[in-house]
Amino acid sequence: MRGTDGEAEREALLGKLTLHEKVRLLTGATTWRTRAEPALGLREMVLSDGPAGVRGQSWDERDPALLLPSASALGALWDEELVERLGGLLAAEARRKGVDVVLAPTLNLHRTPLGGRHFECLSEDPELTGRTGAALIRGIQAGGVAATAKHYVANDSETDRLTVDVRMSERALREVYLAPFEAAVEAGVRVVMAGYNGVDGATMTASPLLEHPLKSEWGFDGVVVSDWGAVRAGEPSARAALDLVMPGPEGAWGEALVRAVEEGRVPRAAVDDKVRRLLRLAAACGALGEPDDVAGPAAVPGAEPGAEGRTPASATGPDEADRALLRRAAAASTVLLADRGVLPLDPARLRTVAVIGAHAGLPRVQGGGSAGVFPERVVTPLDGITAALGDGVRLLHVPGPSTDAPAAPLTTALCTDPDSGRPGVRLRVLDRAGRPLHSEHRLSGRQLEPPLSPGAHTVEIAALLLPGTSGPWTLGVGGFGRMSVTVDERLVLEGEFDKDTDDPAVVHVNPPVRDVPVHLTAGRAVRVVARRELAPGTGRATVVTAAPPRPDDAKALAEAVRAAREADAVIVVVGTTEHGECEGRDRDDLRLGGRQDELVHAVTAVDPRTVVVVNSGGPVELPWRARAGAVLLTWFPGQEGGTGLADVLFGRTEPGGRLPTTWPAALADAPVTRTRPEDGHLDYTEGPYIGHRAWARHDRAPAYWFGHGLGFTTWAYEGLTVPAPIAPGEPFTVWVEVRNTGPRPGREVVQVYLAGHPGSPDRRLAGYTPVSAAPGERVTAPVRIPARALRHWDEDEHAWHTRPGPRRVLAGRSAGDLPLSATVVVRTPG
Ligand code: BGC
Repeated sequence: MRGTDGEAEREALLGKLTLHEKVRLLTGATTWRTRAEPALGLREMVLSDGPAGVRGQSWDERDPALLLPSASALGALWDEELVERLGGLLAAEARRKGVDVVLAPTLNLHRTPLGGRHFECLSEDPELTGRTGAALIRGIQAGGVAATAKHYVANDSETDRLTVDVRMSERALREVYLAPFEAAVEAGVRVVMAGYNGVDGATMTASPLLEHPLKSEWGFDGVVVSDWGAVRAGEPSARAALDLVMPGPEGAWGEALVRAVEEGRVPRAAVDDKVRRLLRLAAACGALGEPDDVAGPAAVPGAEPGAEGRTPASATGPDEADRALLRRAAAASTVLLADRGVLPLDPARLRTVAVIGAHAGLPRVQGGGSAGVFPERVVTPLDGITAALGDGVRLLHVPGPSTDAPAAPLTTALCTDPDSGRPGVRLRVLDRAGRPLHSEHRLSGRQLEPPLSPGAHTVEIAALLLPGTSGPWTLGVGGFGRMSVTVDERLVLEGEFDKDTDDPAVVHVNPPVRDVPVHLTAGRAVRVVARRELAPGTGRATVVTAAPPRPDDAKALAEAVRAAREADAVIVVVGTTEHGECEGRDRDDLRLGGRQDELVHAVTAVDPRTVVVVNSGGPVELPWRARAGAVLLTWFPGQEGGTGLADVLFGRTEPGGRLPTTWPAALADAPVTRTRPEDGHLDYTEGPYIGHRAWARHDRAPAYWFGHGLGFTTWAYEGLTVPAPIAPGEPFTVWVEVRNTGPRPGREVVQVYLAGHPGSPDRRLAGYTPVSAAPGERVTAPVRIPARALRHWDEDEHAWHTRPGPRRVLAGRSAGDLPLSATVVVRTPG
């Protein structure tokens, strides 16, 4: 329900509530739910992460989700239609899981390649991020589910994210960091999440930026929700335009806010406005019905109390059409960085194919942190390639030397529940005397939300581990507080592990793991029991990990080289691990972990036609890139990544992706790298110059420019037509003629950049249009340039201005390859 629709009825409902009842609605009822008010017909609303899938009502591996490609892959699509369809898939998943609000998209920017949450952000460019984010929002919300633009604003890196105060010029804030949020509001986003960080001295949950420009200038009429646990000061955030505190039921508002209103420190009107917005959101999500008719979200395993017995909004699970869409998205987001005449491979000419690298069998399909979901299935590169090649081709898979991947939590492949004998583990919650209060069979050694009842004292995870190899295994337990691990009743690890951070992504999602080597014998099962005491403030997460003995790297490298020699096509898959790309911390460097670079060097030395597939969410250094036959980026491609990759490798689909972020050859070249605050402040001294704008300004050449990506054909840029003088504040269209000069049909993303007014070093992406053409065919791409591409923020007048005069229009295939130019003239107003 938008606009005035139903406003009068909701106003009447608001009038029925006491101050206490109003304030009660403004803090979550639980970690993932808002509070119901049956007398109003308001049911609970469920909020769920996002963005690469909809996790659902709790962290529960028995409730899997469709896993989409991560955000940086969506940023590589440059295809709003496809992104909108993917948004529709998120909405369908949300409905299936009884979720009303999806906590996506993340609209922060790739300010530096070191950002730990890079994979969860769409791009380095405000225009591409705004357009892609808006498409996702439209797709999600067309399905009757609310989207959330997060994290408002300038949460672009993770170091000290709970406390960092970001300082930047008003121009950078308006032109770069706020711009994608403005686009989200224009797209009608219903929820905006205020970040943990501060901007210019005010923490975002109490920032004046929530009122202005968000609610006043842009007219945002939805709900501003806090990031989880981001509200530390109750009254300032209540006075500012924050509407909803999450999670609950505890929080800084509650009775303290009631008193603050009664004593005149927070206006009553402010509380009314927040409730009004919440009711508007509820109406839009179908959470506001007749009084006492509060049927709500679906009952799913592990759902929070209160969900029992309700009817799922949609009972049908994911189907083949959904998987086909994800496969298409994985292929379409794959970026072909370089190809020396190797791709596509022709399966008919292959007899032996070597698939090398640990990521081929154990890819990273998503990034770490709150975005994580339990995928309903994962097609690995190895699976995809095997299926595509069929039985006639011999496939050699060699994992190669170890990566720096941390040990994985226990899975059903490795252990059984000692009580039931079923694959998985036994989760028990014990009281102080060690008596079980709860016991259930689970599928993973990673338990983030065990069911806790009064008296809960210890979480216990027990498993019968069946080692496949003899040698020193590494067993670990993750979490905070008092923890222990026993193996066949023998204590192997014990200690009190203090919390050194309050970051929820660390405490509740990825706590540090302490480990110990334990010698195990292949085929001889051992009983592993991990226990963690639940002291206040230590979080709920308990994780049990097990890693087999490390392979002999030299031997593994030699095996890879041998396989490469034997094969007539070599595909190496390398990538980052949770050590590198994860919420809650930034990266220290851009290197591939372990000895992966060495592996690529060794294999390309044997076969210079080797195809290297890079499985990372953000830039990594590719020191061997000039020696590879072809280099493909698959990002974190989601559950169907393996089939999408095979489609590209064997030419069933053209790799459609274009870089959403500039790819440095080496970290040292990148113009903006600082993520570490000084005295609590992180100064964006580069102003609006990040990404390709910074590279161009500093006249530096990256390894690959923003917008770069090859297909299986070639293109000539043959003509650029710009309109006669244009009026300031009006959008306009330029026409770019391109010709497919290669042997295959293809898709090209025609990009248009605008240089700043004469004398300005600025050059920004102004618009883009994907086109398709048959071999030899010439097409004209209309590229719409929005009025905002011409405006700049005037810091003296605190207002947007469009300077009259000439502007250079540049067209081409990336920020570094712009063969066509013309001049457009902006008329003087009046
Ligand atoms: C993240 C948010 C997320 C929230 C709930 C926070 O730590 O920053 O992006 O939506 O947790 O999981």
